[in-house]
Amino acid sequence: MRKKLVVGNWKMHGNRASNAALLAGLREAGPWSADVAVCVPFPYIAETALALTGQAVLFGAQDCSAHEQGAYTGEVSSAMLADLGCRYVIVGHSERRAYHAENDQLVADKAKAALAHGVTPIVCVGETLAERDAGQTESVVKRQLAAVIHTLTHCIGEIVLAYEPVWAIGTGLTASPEQAQAVHAVLRKQLQAATQKADSMRILYGGSVKPDNAVQLFGMPDIDGGLIGGAALKAADFGAICRAAN
Ligand code: 13P
Repeated sequence: MRKKLVVGNWKMHGNRASNAALLAGLREAGPWSADVAVCVPFPYIAETALALTGQAVLFGAQDCSAHEQGAYTGEVSSAMLADLGCRYVIVGHSERRAYHAENDQLVADKAKAALAHGVTPIVCVGETLAERDAGQTESVVKRQLAAVIHTLTHCIGEIVLAYEPVWAIGTGLTASPEQAQAVHAVLRKQLQAATQKADSMRILYGGSVKPDNAVQLFGMPDIDGGLIGGAALKAADFGAICRAAN
């Protein structure tokens, strides 16, 4: 039995005051039986860590460098994230793939760097609307995951995978539970061919998850929780989604 995991991806939102209010709201909204985490902008990690002291809510970042250390202006290493107590780091989010030209290999290298420092990478895969319409959903997500499997080899069982169809992110369009389940099953099968741990690995769904669709999505056999964008910015909504994963 896999324990559900719900992760809030704050993206580039918030400030010190609004973050404090949101985290206080989360303290009120819990506890939940699912694992819960928030992935916050780099500058706010330390304060988030402080605010969550003694809480069950874990925290992490939204990206990391593939490099260990050195002259990489503007980059943040996974060692730094580990130093701050991050449990998770999102890698390969479609917004980074699209706006920062991150390719499959770079995403895999970032996942490897994170694991090397004990930070669990949440590796995102997902197809665009054009790719779905062209019948390429399966081949796209399999190609994205294959790069990670190839790079991590025997460590692949340590990641969290997230299926985030690009067309469902921030659009209000959600993959139906059946559509999402179909892709999750494909991904699970690919993991099963690579690791004996596949059945205990968590595959999250992300893309316009809201309190009113979370129960159905999380009820599917291969959907082990969610990666939540917009709804993670409101404590009541995020709390309700976490409850839906109970
Ligand atoms: P939304 O929940 O806003 O669609 O965003 C999903 C997402 O990108 C989470 O990483």
